[in-house]
Amino acid sequence: MANILVTGGAGYIGSHTSKQLAASGHTPIVYDNLANGHRDAVRWEPFEAGDITDGARLREVIGLHKPQAAIHFAGLIEVGISVVDPAAFYDTNVNGSLTLLRALVDAGVGSVVFSSTAAVYGQPQSVPIPEDAPSAPINPYGETKRAVEAMLGYFAAAHGLRYAALRYFNAAGADPEGDLGERHDPESHLIPLVLFAALGQRPHIDVYGTDYPTPDGTAVRDYAHVCDLSSAHVAALDYLAASPEPLIANLGTGAGYSVRQVVETCRRITQRNIPSQDAPRRAGDSPELVAAVDRARERIGWRAQMSDLDTIVATAWAWHRAQAGE
Ligand SMILES: NC(=O)c1ccc[n+]([C@@H]2O[C@H](COP(=O)([O-])OP(=O)(O)OC[C@H]3O[C@@H](n4cnc5c(N)ncnc54)[C@H](O)[C@@H]3O)[C@@H](O)[C@H]2O)c1
Repeated sequence: MANILVTGGAGYIGSHTSKQLAASGHTPIVYDNLANGHRDAVRWEPFEAGDITDGARLREVIGLHKPQAAIHFAGLIEVGISVVDPAAFYDTNVNGSLTLLRALVDAGVGSVVFSSTAAVYGQPQSVPIPEDAPSAPINPYGETKRAVEAMLGYFAAAHGLRYAALRYFNAAGADPEGDLGERHDPESHLIPLVLFAALGQRPHIDVYGTDYPTPDGTAVRDYAHVCDLSSAHVAALDYLAASPEPLIANLGTGAGYSVRQVVETCRRITQRNIPSQDAPRRAGDSPELVAAVDRARERIGWRAQMSDLDTIVATAWAWHRAQAGE
């Protein structure tokens, strides 16, 4: 049907989305510098190596493939690293997005879907968090994403660029067919870390904070299956093809699970011993981050279909076992 430029398509969410784009009849044009992505995760060709801050290379690739729209996943994602190296985050996430938007507008590519994050909300006043809650990031990572959301708004006003900013909560799980999964390095996400402990690749899982005002005292997060996130991107493309109205929408389930619930679910599904160790709270962690999900349902007809915790953990477990050669 259409060529879709997928920046960061060699990464976790971008590779799963490329698979769904191909299944929907589109051709994903993956643009990635492989800083954190994997060449073997680009299974739905073509692959174009390039840096998101390289305007000349972006123009070349856009000129060659003439995409109808772009999905912009490329970026640095590790909150802790953003605190010690904010310049790298401003360069890749803000300057890189600016470079991409300029190239898209110059080439007449009229629509972009952007990977935003719950980190734009910072420490929310209450949950579930609606999209019109104040944007108040508490780290450079969230700040760069907020900056790009603002940039998209200004490009829309000035150039008629159509955009969707999708604010993911916690992406988790793996392709149920086993083609793809999560391979961050360093890994900081809870579910893979718990599964590494199940595989004996880590001695235990640290539980940061056991005295939060939550039912069991541990932090609560909203986990969405990566394949559900992928289908939201395909739905957002359809939306943008039909509507000039910008879309800013949370992607989550509206249900939260505590760290202890996640660890227990992993123990039950893996049937392995998973030692855990209580640890102090980490600075900047919110007690509870849960998405209000009405807007995505109303505007793009999206609702998580396979994001129950058992499915998330079972698909991730199959992937990590295979990676470990079990
Ligand atoms: N994983 C999550 O839970 C989560 C939550 C909220 C938002 N997000 C956002 O979703 C997007 C994708 O996240 P992910 O988990 O798939 O991360 P990822 O690290 O697996 O994928 C990011 C991709 O971007 C590429 N990249 C990095 N710098 C680049 C550059 N300078 N030029 C070209 N490519 C570059 C990497 O090589 C990688 O393939 C990111 O923008 C992230 O901020 C992720």
